[in-house]
Amino acid sequence: MSFRSVKGMHDVLPTCTAINQKIELMLANIANRYGYNEIRTPAVEKLELFARTAGASSDLVTKEMYSFTDQNKEVLALRPEGTAPCVRSGIEHNLFYGKKQRLWYIGSMFRRERPQKGRYRQFQQFGLECFGYAENHVEVEIIQIVSDIMSSLNIKSQLEINHLGSSESRINFQREFIEYLTKYYNDLDDDSKFRLEKNPLRIFDSKIQTTQEILKEAPKITNYLSHEEQAQLEFVTNCLLEQNIEYKIAPKLVRGLDYYTGIVFEWQKDGLTLCAGGRYDNLVSDLGGSPTPAVGVALGIERLIDSCQLIQDKKIVISVLCHYPKAFNKASNFAKKLRASGYIVKFEFHASKLKSLLKIANQNESQYVILIGQNEYDSDNITVKNMLTSVQTSYASLTDVIELIQGEENV
Ligand code: HAM
Repeated sequence: MSFRSVKGMHDVLPTCTAINQKIELMLANIANRYGYNEIRTPAVEKLELFARTAGASSDLVTKEMYSFTDQNKEVLALRPEGTAPCVRSGIEHNLFYGKKQRLWYIGSMFRRERPQKGRYRQFQQFGLECFGYAENHVEVEIIQIVSDIMSSLNIKSQLEINHLGSSESRINFQREFIEYLTKYYNDLDDDSKFRLEKNPLRIFDSKIQTTQEILKEAPKITNYLSHEEQAQLEFVTNCLLEQNIEYKIAPKLVRGLDYYTGIVFEWQKDGLTLCAGGRYDNLVSDLGGSPTPAVGVALGIERLIDSCQLIQDKKIVISVLCHYPKAFNKASNFAKKLRASGYIVKFEFHASKLKSLLKIANQNESQYVILIGQNEYDSDNITVKNMLTSVQTSYASLTDVIELIQGEENV
């Protein structure tokens, strides 16, 4: 019997991990430069944490959670997202009390969604969460960071913004929205009929054409915002205009998680959401902490990688081939020194078979091969072969070898 990976979960093979490493480093560097600090939370949390925060009727909780009961009868879940764990950790370790916090994370998230291009059951998220600021400059900061990320990767995506309103303006909107949809009840798809009772705003997410047609004339949440909420949206969009960050107001943007309380945003490209987030001022207090305003965002690393054309850096690989047992330590020492000079060095040893070592050096895709056999050991010389030109030269010291490689590197 042979095994394959679980449906919707993928291996990242050695030919691709360099790109992942490059992106992850870039994301960490940008977040660190804005003063965000990394937080690492476990991949497993109590199921209740997500049921309480994402919304009991959300798809995430009702359909997509990987959950299980452990030996102590605790009901646990693989985390489907990073915001609730960050808040749980911040309350548990007193990170928010009387303090501002800017946090970032990278990690695997798990959702049992229907797998398709860009939608996986295990995927990597990079997230930013900023706690303690009621002012909307934080939304601007977070959008600016994502905009920096998109520009460094040369990704052109569409930023959409909406304001979900306070509970009061949302109740007013919802009343009229339900009234409007009830007139078309028989034409709605089954999912939307169910949502009309449980969580009407989610109907905006419907992919069904007839429902989308009905939504075209539906009331818009932006018409129900208070003056203060309209001013908040205006403040953010004016700042974006000043910073030349393009955006579109999207009154139908509601987000799939229940914890948002104010401005929300998403970056779209080719029908996929690359990145999304918003303000969630009640989540910390809902989970037992003292009231703490918060704004955050998360992006899917796989979707980001699929949207950009990153060229893998060509690094010089050197194979040190030792085919004389007495020279083992000398050759291994050369390899160590070359690594210290910044090169990728693969050390290969075989007591006699130089031919098979050269074959491995070829598989290693080495640009240079350093040969250490009996001749080199006795004469104290080093033989270097340039694998591209097949030119083989003898050198008196490793410093000379490094000078040669550096010289050719700069040509
Ligand atoms: P989300 O919209 O559920 O928000 O996910 C954020 C991003 O994760 C999406 O825009 C997408 O790029 C990626 N993503 C989601 N599901 C999948 C999947 N099945 N396969 C591949 N990529 C996926 C959140 O998770 C919130 N915690 C964001 C946030 C942070 N809000 C405030 N702070």
